[in-house]
Amino acid sequence: MDLKLTGKKVIVLASSKGLGAGIAEAFAEEGADVVITGRSEESLRDRASLIEQKTGRSVLTAAVDLTHQKSIEDMIKKAAGELGGVDILINNTGGPPAGSFKKLSEEDWDFAYSLTLRSYITAVRSVLPFMKGSGGRILNVTSSSIKQPVEDLILSNTFRMGVLGLTKSLSKELAEDNILINTVGPGRIETERVQQIDAKKAEKSGKTPEEVKAESEASIPLARYGQPGEFASLVVFLASPKNTYTTGQHLVIDGGMTNAY
Ligand SMILES: NC(=O)c1ccc[n+]([C@@H]2O[C@H](COP(=O)([O-])OP(=O)(O)OC[C@H]3O[C@@H](n4cnc5c(N)ncnc54)[C@H](OP(=O)(O)O)[C@@H]3O)[C@@H](O)[C@H]2O)c1
Repeated sequence: MDLKLTGKKVIVLASSKGLGAGIAEAFAEEGADVVITGRSEESLRDRASLIEQKTGRSVLTAAVDLTHQKSIEDMIKKAAGELGGVDILINNTGGPPAGSFKKLSEEDWDFAYSLTLRSYITAVRSVLPFMKGSGGRILNVTSSSIKQPVEDLILSNTFRMGVLGLTKSLSKELAEDNILINTVGPGRIETERVQQIDAKKAEKSGKTPEEVKAESEASIPLARYGQPGEFASLVVFLASPKNTYTTGQHLVIDGGMTNAY
């Protein structure tokens, strides 16, 4: 299937590692021009050269902290200038802190809002002037908490639902410009973040990280963690020009883990 991505201009937020990096690589493989972002310039340089080696496409980098509104606006303007426009925006971000309501402070709530919801709003607002007339695509990465709350992650459970509301409302507003927007939630995709979470659980419970991982995998019908490339395949399709009629939707990529319709 030709996804019609050759020469398309793509910004992938939070893509020096993990899911974002997998998505950026998959777009480069399809012949797109990609900008990757993250806070650490060193991680960005390392990731860009890895993707370049694997795909033979050059990759642009832009350091940005997604909790800073103005930095997002400036980064998107600059990236659009360097790319010569923007066809596709992938909203992705770092994970919000874990914890229950009683343990979290007002500052934690403000931080999680700015990281997981406001950053997406700012990125969409900043990118729209460059997408007008091009029939752009926007894809929001969230979590399986869009279908089923995750224990001890009240910040994710709250703000990811805000992304769903944003997606559905925007799908109606942006349809007149043929801009399609969807949301995708990962279940357990093997990234550094998931490895760190398992390591913490192991420390707390006195088990080995391997035991924690095996228990976690046993709760997934496909009996294993997904890989970033498997997650990226659907993201890239939904955000490609080949997707012409799916908008305002949300789905999880979780090996069957989520127990919800
Ligand atoms: N992996 C999963 O199975 C899973 C499951 C549910 C939800 N999620 C969600 O999916 C998202 C990505 O997860 P992941 O597993 O790919 O995480 P990851 O491996 O930790 O990668 C996170 C990426 O985000 C960047 N980042 C973090 N905070 C940032 C900030 N304030 N500003 C700009 N960039 C930032 C990191 O680069 P720098 O540190 O250099 O900034 C890195 O490139 C997270 O929101 C996570 O909660 C993942």
